Amino acid sequence: MTSVGAELAERLVGWRRHLHLRPELGFEETETAAFVAEQLRGLKLSVTTGVARTGVVAVLPAAREERGAVLLRADLDGLPIQEKAGRTYGSKIPGRMHACGHDGHMAMLLGAAELLVGQRGRLDRNVIFCFQPGEEGFGGAKAMIEEGVLRDHRVAEAYGLHLWSPFPVGTIQVRPGPTMAAQDEFEATIRGRGGHGAQPHAAIDPIVAAAHGLVGLQAVVARAVDPMDAAVVSVGSFHAGSAANVIPDEAVLRGTLRSFDEGVREALRVGARRVLEETAAAHGATCDFVLFPGYPAVVNDAAAVERVRKHAAAVVGDAKVVEPKPMAAAEDFAYFLREVPGAFTFIGAGNTARGITAPR
Ligand code: NI
Repeated sequence: MTSVGAELAERLVGWRRHLHLRPELGFEETETAAFVAEQLRGLKLSVTTGVARTGVVAVLPAAREERGAVLLRADLDGLPIQEKAGRTYGSKIPGRMHACGHDGHMAMLLGAAELLVGQRGRLDRNVIFCFQPGEEGFGGAKAMIEEGVLRDHRVAEAYGLHLWSPFPVGTIQVRPGPTMAAQDEFEATIRGRGGHGAQPHAAIDPIVAAAHGLVGLQAVVARAVDPMDAAVVSVGSFHAGSAANVIPDEAVLRGTLRSFDEGVREALRVGARRVLEETAAAHGATCDFVLFPGYPAVVNDAAAVERVRKHAAAVVGDAKVVEPKPMAAAEDFAYFLREVPGAFTFIGAGNTARGITAPR
């Protein structure tokens, strides 16, 4: 590493740790945004704050702009998780933690801004540094697109990345096509008629109906999806009743649907609803099925992936540029990739020798 590189690396660690101290949740990232904006203004970039409430956008104009802008994105928010004590740079805010690594993403994008500012005379495309709020389930990317971040800056390509501790440090992992899953959630309320557990014939048992529905859901993936396509149906919450000998009025199932293809996504939505509604009906109960649409799938552009691979290989070597399997986690960078070609890349962050193995 050159001395300039070593200096920048030290600053990156400093920015990351500073951001790690004060994590903020989606659309509340005011201090985080202020810090990022201050660094970007220090680079003499034109900076807009308050985009989609707390987002920050900085523009690095090219010497001659020919092909539309390239957008580079980092995410601002932390998670509602209590960090274990012990680190000098550990979270100072109770119940909040940068547990997903977005602090690292911000530091990296600030570093990229500094490096690219140093190359500004050679750029033939504007570069847009996009610090988006609310990645953790809030759809901040969608909100920024709706406020015009792509249109206003004539963005032609978009790139994002995620630190990924299941992948070994030193590797850069990227694949063409479907990379991360579309995510929908549902809540199904199965209503029967409560009664005494000793007199089931006088009641309509929503627990038995919901239990059959839960088992039936497993067949949606097994029977309604092409075996060459990937899909997940998981129920993470099943609540009913409060006493051993009382049949309750209702049971509530909450679950998540994951897929990589819009056709499969629709098959899961339709299949889950049908199985739960009709199984409830078979038991004389009713089902109120509510779908909460989530992020679409992250689908990488093949040419953009090739560019990432080429540049990644120059940094870590060919052997450390890996093509991962698609993964069923979700990421709202998907919204950018629905509008413009680009790529979402994983930076390996796992280090078993140092005990760094926690997922994300
Ligand atoms: Ni994340």
